[in-house]
Amino acid sequence: MREDGGDSAVHEPAIRIAADAEALADTAAALVAERAGTAIAARGRFLMALSGGSTPLALYTRLGGPWRDRIDWTHLHLFWGDERTVPPAHHDSNYRMAHEALITRVPVPPHQVHRIRGELAPVVAAIEYERTLRTALGTAGREATSPAGLDLVLLGLGIDGHTASLFPGRPPAHETERWVVADEIDGRGTWRVTLTPPVLNAARCVAFLVAGAGKAAILRDVLEGARVPDALPAQAIRPRPGALVWLVDRAAASALSRPSGGTMS
Ligand code: 6PG
Repeated sequence: MREDGGDSAVHEPAIRIAADAEALADTAAALVAERAGTAIAARGRFLMALSGGSTPLALYTRLGGPWRDRIDWTHLHLFWGDERTVPPAHHDSNYRMAHEALITRVPVPPHQVHRIRGELAPVVAAIEYERTLRTALGTAGREATSPAGLDLVLLGLGIDGHTASLFPGRPPAHETERWVVADEIDGRGTWRVTLTPPVLNAARCVAFLVAGAGKAAILRDVLEGARVPDALPAQAIRPRPGALVWLVDRAAASALSRPSGGTMS
Protein backbone atom coordinates (compact mmCIF):
# COMPACT_ATOMS: atom_id res chain seq x y z
CA MET A 1 0.00 0.00 0.00
CA ARG A 2 1.33 3.46 -0.83
CA GLU A 3 2.32 5.65 2.10
CA ASP A 4 -0.63 7.95 1.34
CA GLY A 5 -3.00 5.11 2.12
CA GLY A 6 -3.83 4.53 -1.50
CA ASP A 7 -3.34 1.11 -2.98
CA SER A 8 -0.77 0.12 -5.48
CA ALA A 9 -2.28 -0.71 -8.84
CA VAL A 10 -4.27 -3.65 -7.56
CA HIS A 11 -6.72 -4.04 -10.40
CA GLU A 12 -8.03 -7.50 -9.71
CA PRO A 13 -10.99 -7.16 -7.34
CA ALA A 14 -10.47 -8.85 -4.01
CA ILE A 15 -13.35 -11.12 -3.02
CA ARG A 16 -13.81 -11.77 0.68
CA ILE A 17 -16.45 -14.38 1.54
CA ALA A 18 -17.99 -14.23 5.01
CA ALA A 19 -19.94 -17.15 6.48
CA ASP A 20 -23.20 -15.18 6.78
CA ALA A 21 -24.64 -11.66 6.86
CA GLU A 22 -23.55 -11.10 10.47
CA ALA A 23 -19.96 -12.10 9.73
CA LEU A 24 -20.12 -9.93 6.62
CA ALA A 25 -21.04 -6.91 8.75
CA ASP A 26 -18.05 -7.58 10.99
CA THR A 27 -15.72 -7.98 8.01
CA ALA A 28 -16.98 -4.70 6.60
CA ALA A 29 -16.63 -2.92 9.94
CA ALA A 30 -13.02 -4.12 10.17
CA LEU A 31 -12.34 -2.72 6.69
CA VAL A 32 -13.85 0.65 7.66
CA ALA A 33 -11.78 0.79 10.85
CA GLU A 34 -8.58 -0.17 8.99
CA ARG A 35 -9.13 2.36 6.22
CA ALA A 36 -10.07 5.08 8.70
CA GLY A 37 -6.93 4.54 10.75
CA THR A 38 -4.73 4.66 7.64
CA ALA A 39 -6.39 7.78 6.22
CA ILE A 40 -6.39 9.71 9.49
CA ALA A 41 -2.73 8.85 10.09
CA ALA A 42 -1.82 9.92 6.55
CA ARG A 43 -4.06 12.97 6.03
CA GLY A 44 -5.79 13.76 9.30
CA ARG A 45 -9.26 12.81 8.06
CA PHE A 46 -11.28 9.95 6.56
CA LEU A 47 -13.82 10.59 3.82
CA MET A 48 -16.36 7.77 3.46
CA ALA A 49 -19.40 7.54 1.18
CA LEU A 50 -22.21 5.39 2.57
CA SER A 51 -24.47 3.13 0.57
CA GLY A 52 -28.22 2.97 0.72
CA GLY A 53 -30.37 -0.14 0.55
CA SER A 54 -30.91 -2.69 3.30
CA THR A 55 -27.64 -4.65 3.23
CA PRO A 56 -25.47 -2.05 4.98
CA LEU A 57 -27.86 -1.65 7.95
CA ALA A 58 -26.08 -4.44 9.87
CA LEU A 59 -22.74 -2.73 9.19
CA TYR A 60 -23.97 0.69 10.34
CA THR A 61 -25.38 -0.88 13.48
CA ARG A 62 -22.01 -2.55 14.17
CA LEU A 63 -20.11 0.69 13.57
CA GLY A 64 -22.40 2.51 16.00
CA GLY A 65 -22.14 -0.34 18.50
CA PRO A 66 -19.23 -2.72 19.16
CA TRP A 67 -16.92 -0.93 16.69
CA ARG A 68 -17.82 2.56 17.90
CA ASP A 69 -14.73 3.12 20.01
CA ARG A 70 -12.34 1.70 17.40
CA ILE A 71 -12.77 4.61 15.01
CA ASP A 72 -11.86 8.27 15.57
CA TRP A 73 -15.24 9.66 14.43
CA THR A 74 -14.20 13.28 15.03
CA HIS A 75 -11.97 13.02 11.95
CA LEU A 76 -14.60 11.45 9.70
CA HIS A 77 -16.57 13.07 6.91
CA LEU A 78 -19.66 11.12 5.76
CA PHE A 79 -21.09 11.32 2.27
CA TRP A 80 -23.67 9.26 0.37
CA GLY A 81 -23.27 7.41 -2.92
CA ASP A 82 -26.86 8.16 -3.81
CA GLU A 83 -30.15 9.34 -2.40
CA ARG A 84 -33.80 9.07 -3.10
CA THR A 85 -35.70 12.29 -3.82
CA VAL A 86 -37.45 12.38 -0.46
CA PRO A 87 -36.99 14.46 2.71
CA PRO A 88 -34.39 13.27 5.25
CA ALA A 89 -37.00 11.86 7.65
CA HIS A 90 -38.77 9.85 4.94
CA HIS A 91 -38.79 6.06 5.31
CA ASP A 92 -37.03 5.66 1.94
CA SER A 93 -34.24 8.12 2.74
CA ASN A 94 -30.74 6.61 2.70
CA TYR A 95 -29.69 9.38 5.07
CA ARG A 96 -32.46 8.48 7.55
CA MET A 97 -31.34 4.85 7.70
CA ALA A 98 -27.72 5.79 8.44
CA HIS A 99 -28.77 8.57 10.82
CA GLU A 100 -30.80 6.18 12.98
CA ALA A 101 -28.37 3.24 12.92
CA LEU A 102 -25.07 5.12 13.05
CA ILE A 103 -24.95 8.91 13.12
CA THR A 104 -26.96 9.31 16.33
CA ARG A 105 -24.58 6.86 18.06
CA VAL A 106 -21.15 8.25 17.15
CA PRO A 107 -19.45 11.63 17.74
CA VAL A 108 -19.06 12.63 14.10
CA PRO A 109 -19.35 16.45 14.02
CA PRO A 110 -22.64 17.47 12.35
CA HIS A 111 -20.87 19.77 9.88
CA GLN A 112 -18.94 16.71 8.66
CA VAL A 113 -22.11 14.85 7.71
CA HIS A 114 -22.75 15.78 4.09
CA ARG A 115 -26.15 14.46 3.08
CA ILE A 116 -27.65 14.76 -0.38
CA ARG A 117 -30.67 17.05 0.06
CA GLY A 118 -33.33 14.78 -1.44
CA GLU A 119 -36.03 17.28 -0.57
CA LEU A 120 -34.79 19.61 -3.30
CA ALA A 121 -35.62 19.36 -6.99
CA PRO A 122 -33.42 16.45 -8.20
CA VAL A 123 -31.26 18.48 -10.57
CA VAL A 124 -30.77 21.19 -7.96
CA ALA A 125 -29.80 18.58 -5.36
CA ALA A 126 -27.27 17.08 -7.78
CA ILE A 127 -25.68 20.44 -8.61
CA GLU A 128 -25.52 21.35 -4.93
CA TYR A 129 -23.99 18.00 -3.99
CA GLU A 130 -21.32 18.22 -6.65
CA ARG A 131 -20.36 21.57 -5.17
CA THR A 132 -20.32 19.98 -1.69
CA LEU A 133 -17.98 17.26 -2.93
CA ARG A 134 -15.70 19.68 -4.79
CA THR A 135 -15.43 21.80 -1.63
CA ALA A 136 -14.78 18.81 0.63
CA LEU A 137 -12.17 17.35 -1.73
CA GLY A 138 -10.57 20.73 -2.34
CA THR A 139 -7.70 22.26 -0.44
CA ALA A 140 -6.82 25.72 0.85
CA GLY A 141 -10.38 26.91 0.30
CA ARG A 142 -10.33 26.07 -3.42
CA GLU A 143 -12.79 23.58 -4.93
CA ALA A 144 -11.23 20.35 -6.17
CA THR A 145 -10.88 19.88 -9.92
CA SER A 146 -9.95 16.21 -9.57
CA PRO A 147 -12.59 13.76 -8.26
CA ALA A 148 -9.93 11.83 -6.35
CA GLY A 149 -10.07 11.95 -2.60
CA LEU A 150 -12.80 9.77 -1.15
CA ASP A 151 -11.03 7.23 1.01
CA LEU A 152 -13.76 4.59 1.01
CA VAL A 153 -16.97 4.20 -0.98
CA LEU A 154 -19.48 1.58 0.16
CA LEU A 155 -21.76 0.24 -2.57
CA GLY A 156 -24.53 -2.31 -2.84
CA LEU A 157 -25.62 -4.44 -5.78
CA GLY A 158 -29.19 -4.61 -7.03
CA ILE A 159 -30.56 -7.82 -8.54
CA ASP A 160 -30.65 -5.99 -11.90
CA GLY A 161 -26.95 -5.12 -11.65
CA HIS A 162 -27.38 -1.51 -10.56
CA THR A 163 -25.20 0.11 -7.95
CA ALA A 164 -25.69 3.44 -6.21
CA SER A 165 -28.35 4.82 -8.58
CA LEU A 166 -26.57 3.80 -11.76
CA PHE A 167 -29.31 1.73 -13.39
CA PRO A 168 -29.25 -0.51 -16.49
CA GLY A 169 -29.81 1.37 -19.72
CA ARG A 170 -29.62 4.78 -18.05
CA PRO A 171 -27.09 7.52 -18.93
CA PRO A 172 -25.45 7.97 -15.50
CA ALA A 173 -23.52 4.69 -15.78
CA HIS A 174 -21.71 6.24 -18.78
CA GLU A 175 -21.21 9.73 -17.33
CA THR A 176 -17.64 10.90 -17.83
CA GLU A 177 -17.68 14.53 -16.70
CA ARG A 178 -20.13 15.28 -13.91
CA TRP A 179 -19.52 13.86 -10.43
CA VAL A 180 -23.16 13.89 -9.34
CA VAL A 181 -26.27 13.63 -11.53
CA ALA A 182 -30.02 13.31 -11.13
CA ASP A 183 -31.80 10.60 -13.12
CA GLU A 184 -35.36 9.47 -13.67
CA ILE A 185 -34.35 5.86 -13.21
CA ASP A 186 -37.53 4.19 -14.46
CA GLY A 187 -38.83 6.74 -16.95
CA ARG A 188 -41.98 6.90 -14.83
CA GLY A 189 -41.19 9.72 -12.45
CA THR A 190 -38.88 7.93 -9.99
CA TRP A 191 -35.88 10.21 -9.55
CA ARG A 192 -32.60 9.55 -7.78
CA VAL A 193 -29.45 11.59 -7.18
CA THR A 194 -26.23 9.61 -7.61
CA LEU A 195 -22.48 9.84 -7.66
CA THR A 196 -21.10 8.86 -11.06
CA PRO A 197 -18.22 6.62 -12.22
CA PRO A 198 -15.69 9.48 -12.41
CA VAL A 199 -15.85 10.10 -8.68
CA LEU A 200 -16.57 6.51 -7.61
CA ASN A 201 -13.61 5.22 -9.65
CA ALA A 202 -11.31 7.88 -8.17
CA ALA A 203 -11.78 6.58 -4.63
CA ARG A 204 -8.88 4.99 -2.77
CA CYS A 205 -11.10 2.00 -2.08
CA VAL A 206 -14.53 0.86 -3.26
CA ALA A 207 -16.17 -1.92 -1.26
CA PHE A 208 -19.32 -3.68 -2.47
CA LEU A 209 -21.42 -5.34 0.22
CA VAL A 210 -23.53 -8.20 -1.14
CA ALA A 211 -25.52 -10.67 0.97
CA GLY A 212 -28.08 -13.39 0.46
CA ALA A 213 -28.85 -16.17 -2.03
CA GLY A 214 -31.06 -13.75 -3.95
CA LYS A 215 -27.93 -11.95 -5.16
CA ALA A 216 -26.02 -15.10 -6.20
CA ALA A 217 -26.97 -15.00 -9.89
CA ILE A 218 -26.34 -11.29 -10.39
CA LEU A 219 -23.05 -11.46 -8.48
CA ARG A 220 -21.89 -14.26 -10.78
CA ASP A 221 -22.95 -12.28 -13.86
CA VAL A 222 -21.17 -9.13 -12.68
CA LEU A 223 -17.96 -10.87 -11.61
CA GLU A 224 -17.74 -13.72 -14.12
CA GLY A 225 -20.00 -12.79 -17.02
CA ALA A 226 -19.36 -10.69 -20.12
CA ARG A 227 -18.43 -7.08 -19.51
CA VAL A 228 -21.62 -5.20 -20.38
CA PRO A 229 -21.70 -2.13 -18.11
CA ASP A 230 -24.77 -0.68 -19.79
CA ALA A 231 -26.73 -3.75 -18.71
CA LEU A 232 -24.72 -4.28 -15.52
CA PRO A 233 -23.70 -0.83 -14.24
CA ALA A 234 -21.84 -2.34 -11.27
CA GLN A 235 -19.24 -3.36 -13.87
CA ALA A 236 -18.60 0.33 -14.57
CA ILE A 237 -17.01 0.56 -11.11
CA ARG A 238 -13.31 -0.18 -11.55
CA PRO A 239 -11.32 2.17 -9.32
CA ARG A 240 -7.85 3.05 -10.56
CA PRO A 241 -5.37 3.12 -8.84
CA GLY A 242 -7.69 2.47 -5.92
CA ALA A 243 -8.70 -0.91 -4.59
CA LEU A 244 -11.91 -2.78 -5.40
CA VAL A 245 -13.15 -5.19 -2.74
CA TRP A 246 -16.22 -7.41 -2.88
CA LEU A 247 -17.41 -8.28 0.61
CA VAL A 248 -19.97 -11.03 0.18
CA ASP A 249 -21.55 -13.74 2.28
CA ARG A 250 -21.42 -17.41 1.39
CA ALA A 251 -25.01 -17.42 0.13
CA ALA A 252 -24.34 -14.59 -2.32
CA ALA A 253 -21.11 -16.30 -3.45
CA SER A 254 -22.81 -19.67 -4.01
CA ALA A 255 -23.09 -19.31 -7.81
CA LEU A 256 -19.50 -18.21 -8.35
CA SER A 257 -17.49 -20.73 -10.33
CA ARG A 258 -14.57 -20.23 -8.02
CA PRO A 259 -16.07 -19.57 -4.57
CA SER A 260 -12.67 -20.67 -3.37
CA GLY A 261 -11.35 -17.74 -5.38
CA GLY A 262 -12.44 -15.61 -2.50
CA THR A 263 -10.82 -15.59 0.89
CA MET A 264 -12.96 -16.69 3.76
CA SER A 265 -13.08 -14.23 6.60
C1 6PG B 1 -30.18 2.45 -2.84
C2 6PG B 1 -28.79 1.90 -3.04
C3 6PG B 1 -28.85 0.77 -4.02
C4 6PG B 1 -28.68 -0.49 -3.18
C5 6PG B 1 -28.97 -1.72 -4.00
C6 6PG B 1 -28.92 -2.97 -3.10
O1 6PG B 1 -30.34 3.67 -2.74
O2 6PG B 1 -31.09 1.60 -2.71
O3 6PG B 1 -27.91 2.82 -3.36
O4 6PG B 1 -27.84 0.83 -5.00
O5 6PG B 1 -27.33 -0.53 -2.68
O6 6PG B 1 -30.26 -1.59 -4.55
O7 6PG B 1 -29.94 -2.81 -2.13
P1 6PG B 1 -30.13 -3.91 -0.97
O8 6PG B 1 -28.93 -3.80 -0.05
O9 6PG B 1 -31.40 -3.49 -0.27
O10 6PG B 1 -30.22 -5.26 -1.66
